[in-house]
Amino acid sequence: MAIIRMLSQRRLPVAYAFLASTALLAVTVTAPFATAQKVELSVDASKPGAKIDRNLFGQFAEHLGHGIYEGIWVGPNSTIPNTRGIRNDVVAALKAIKVPNVRWPGGCFADEYHWRNGIGPADKRAITLNPNWGGVIEPNTFGTHEFMDFVDQIGTDAYISVNVGSGTPREASEWLEYLTTAQQTTLAKERATNGHPEPYKVGYLGVGNETWGCGGNMTPEYYLSQLKIYSHFVRNFNPAQQEKDQMLKIAVGPGGGEPQWSEWTETIMKAHQQHPWSWDMDGLSLHSYTVVKWPPAFKSMGFGEAEYAQILKTTLEMDDLINKHSAIMDKYDPQKKVALIVDEWGAWYAPFPGSNPGFLVQQNSLRDAILAALNLNIFARHADRVRAANIAQMINVLQAMIMTDKEKMVLTPTYHVFKMYVPFQDSTFVPVSFDAGTYKSGAFTLPRVDAIAAKDKAGKLWLEITNVDPNEPVEIALNVAGINPKSALGETLTAPKVDSVNTFDAPNTVVPKPVSVKAQGGKLTLKLEPKSVTVISVE
Ligand code: AHR
Repeated sequence: MAIIRMLSQRRLPVAYAFLASTALLAVTVTAPFATAQKVELSVDASKPGAKIDRNLFGQFAEHLGHGIYEGIWVGPNSTIPNTRGIRNDVVAALKAIKVPNVRWPGGCFADEYHWRNGIGPADKRAITLNPNWGGVIEPNTFGTHEFMDFVDQIGTDAYISVNVGSGTPREASEWLEYLTTAQQTTLAKERATNGHPEPYKVGYLGVGNETWGCGGNMTPEYYLSQLKIYSHFVRNFNPAQQEKDQMLKIAVGPGGGEPQWSEWTETIMKAHQQHPWSWDMDGLSLHSYTVVKWPPAFKSMGFGEAEYAQILKTTLEMDDLINKHSAIMDKYDPQKKVALIVDEWGAWYAPFPGSNPGFLVQQNSLRDAILAALNLNIFARHADRVRAANIAQMINVLQAMIMTDKEKMVLTPTYHVFKMYVPFQDSTFVPVSFDAGTYKSGAFTLPRVDAIAAKDKAGKLWLEITNVDPNEPVEIALNVAGINPKSALGETLTAPKVDSVNTFDAPNTVVPKPVSVKAQGGKLTLKLEPKSVTVISVE
């Protein structure tokens, strides 16, 4: 029996000019299967691994298209139900998936963002441009206070990316003082005048974004010099907060797997090893989208099995990429103090027909749900090094959780996967071994089955099992060493077609259905539907 190893290939960079008692588990199946591939899954709960950090389920919200405006912010005078301008429906949906952190304001937008434009009376704020994303007007009505109100409403941590590309260390430092200090400085008084006397808490600080590209076209050496300056001067100015819960600083990391990206990781990690005391770096970011080639041309709906297989094959390259950069990091940081933070990931397809190409609008199908599960499982297997990740992006942009159109809102298949994975947040990884088998489509061969297992804080065992094969069901026989399972309970997500989507008019095409699995003769077996994501807890 082999532990699954993800197949890997070269990953394309983000590039731009522009843009596991030894019982067998039983089952409830929604439909009878004539034949099913059999896979034996062994879980050894006595050998716990790393913590699956809840921050692996982070989100990214950039000022891009309708990600912020309309997606989150409708303004206090909107007829759409809102709290201080922030949509109530969106807040409720996000609370249900227990978002651990939200990265803001970008992306490429971050390195053109000047925070002072987004504070003070709304009607007096500067009106600026968003050159990266459609060249549209940026009204700055959603700024620091609105973002912090939003993270407070959804109960999450703020991950703020400061402007390195076109800003200054002073600008960034003052933003952090404005946000965090408890002392009566001029900036703190200004924060109070703007409605928030209490200091805010910032969980994560991103020191620039893609500084090798849209964040300033810097060489690794040049960025390193900036990183040292920014990470020294831009800090949490609230000692009480620091003692309790440190703000973690994340440096810009690689955008792919080719040699130049290894050089980037080498440069930053080596320098950090040599002088770790003089500048902080808690994380190194990695950006990697699932895109077959640039510019993204694959359709987000209306595709067939060939595109399904190719996209999923491509997404599995994430494993190779993480292995590659983790190996470099291990050289300079064998104790794994610096986390690898995959703070931009997800599928990137052709712009939705009729949409503004700069708004990165795409549909979200069952394929994306499976893609999300495969990536989340890769992150979980690397949980000792990968301690946070942010899917791009939260609302209305790229592989979104939620789509809105005026007063309407729909939850995507990806949203449902994030909800099903909530029990894995801050759980402990448990090794699971199985022979994945293969699923073949044309030139593409993929593992048929993927799975992870984890124990939650209460000691309950959870499993996620994906059946990648769109045509064949899979019969899982589960052995759990040290436990005598009696039943299993959970949910499965599938749909009629690989490109099934949820729409405003038909929002329940791709939604999870309950699965309840009972022991028969002390044995439990579970039949997975084709093209499905299943999460179960074992009793
Ligand atoms: O998520 C869209 C863009 O992709 C981000 O702005 C940028 O950081 C990345 O290249």
